[in-house]
Amino acid sequence: MEKVIQNIMSLCKRRGFIFPSAEIYGGLNGVYDYGYLGAELKKNLKQAWWHQMLFSDLDIFSFDAAVLTPKKVLQASGHLGAGFEDKLVECKSCHKRFKADEVQGSKCPECGGELAEPKNFNLMMKVPIGVTGDTASMAYLRPETCQGIFVNFKNIVSTLRAKIPFGVAQVGKSFRNEINPKNFVFRTREFEQMEMEWFCEPIQSDKWFDYWLEKRLSWYYKLGIKKDNLRVQEVPKEERAHYAIRQVDIEYSFPFGWKEIEGVHNRGDWDLSNHSKFSGENLKYLAPEGDREFSPYVIETSVGVERALFAFLCEAFTQVEGGRTKTTESNKEVEFLLRLHKSLAPVKVLVLPLVRNKPEVVKKAKEVYKLLKPHFLCQYDEKGSIGRRYRRGDEIGVPFSITIDFDTLKRDDVTIRDRDTMKQERIKIKNLLALLNKYLKGTINDK
Ligand code: GAP
Repeated sequence: MEKVIQNIMSLCKRRGFIFPSAEIYGGLNGVYDYGYLGAELKKNLKQAWWHQMLFSDLDIFSFDAAVLTPKKVLQASGHLGAGFEDKLVECKSCHKRFKADEVQGSKCPECGGELAEPKNFNLMMKVPIGVTGDTASMAYLRPETCQGIFVNFKNIVSTLRAKIPFGVAQVGKSFRNEINPKNFVFRTREFEQMEMEWFCEPIQSDKWFDYWLEKRLSWYYKLGIKKDNLRVQEVPKEERAHYAIRQVDIEYSFPFGWKEIEGVHNRGDWDLSNHSKFSGENLKYLAPEGDREFSPYVIETSVGVERALFAFLCEAFTQVEGGRTKTTESNKEVEFLLRLHKSLAPVKVLVLPLVRNKPEVVKKAKEVYKLLKPHFLCQYDEKGSIGRRYRRGDEIGVPFSITIDFDTLKRDDVTIRDRDTMKQERIKIKNLLALLNKYLKGTINDK
């Protein structure tokens, strides 16, 4: 694996962003747990997404459907058919299994053994429901969040009196029994999706497709992804998802190559008309004038939380040979830095007493910490040299560090240091909250 990915993975584990799930029992392949910093980063990412969806002049409503999904829903959506199958190949010698499109030739990439003929493999995860255990009571963990929106289309339109065009947005867990989970949190078996389904007149669907593609790209740029690191790939017909009449992948330039982080799909009326057919319910939309009924088309934007989070981590991750913050113990080391956007940074402010053996300085630092803590996610750190502590904060992407020193005791002011520029300024404690509010404002989560 690329060295930079190894460094990101080890930082994530060492600092408590991401752990292999159930590690004390040997873990579960393709499943991860998120520690304090990872959970906060995820929360911020989702909040930024919700912000784009809900705070605009368009009508978009939130939704939260169940994860457990009856078989009929997935028969209607096509997920129980060939559309949601991967080709699997197995090595006849070591019995390792691979996605067919990830191996070249007929030899096993692990042991060189002969590969068997590819077989179809459905990616859905079955769950027995109730106590009988027979196949009739089998449900599935949803493979995408959106089916819960489509089967509720009638409920949504009638309770909200929603008028086309409108969107329904949802964030939640999805599950896929991936043959070969890989690249850290890029491809996992349990993940979260942020999906928005935009219901519109069929004739307007091309216009809305372009609109949403642009909107989604601008979201990544605003959160700090460089234009050069994103590209848009039109997916040819034969490679599209089974429901898509047009599909564009938004790809990020990961250290292991260009990979999809989000899909923008024109699903046509695939879902609503199939659910109508299978359920017998009329899921057509009645135009407000009452003169015509039609099946709306759906433009979908769908992004994996963890995949996006990984892209933001790769974008923010910076290695400085020799370090930026010169201290006697550190100037030969490599320094790691996360230049995360302020809205995404899990911890916003670090509070540091210059020394910890002077009770008056420590007392004052704790007062400052108490002052700021109700307003921003803060961390207090008194262990180690001041340079080391700045580096610890930089490594987890804290945008601002506040230092309380001997002058603070005389003048009631502190130093505020910017993570990216390392510039420091002196500020009176009485003005600190207002200044931090100003610096942390202008992030995309402000209305
Ligand atoms: N509802 C449409 C849909 O699910 P998709 O292209 O299959 O479309 C959308 O998935 C996004 O979900 C992907 O672009 C990716 O970000 C994320 N995703 C899909 N499978 C994933 C997996 N196994 N692990 C992590 N993220 C995944």
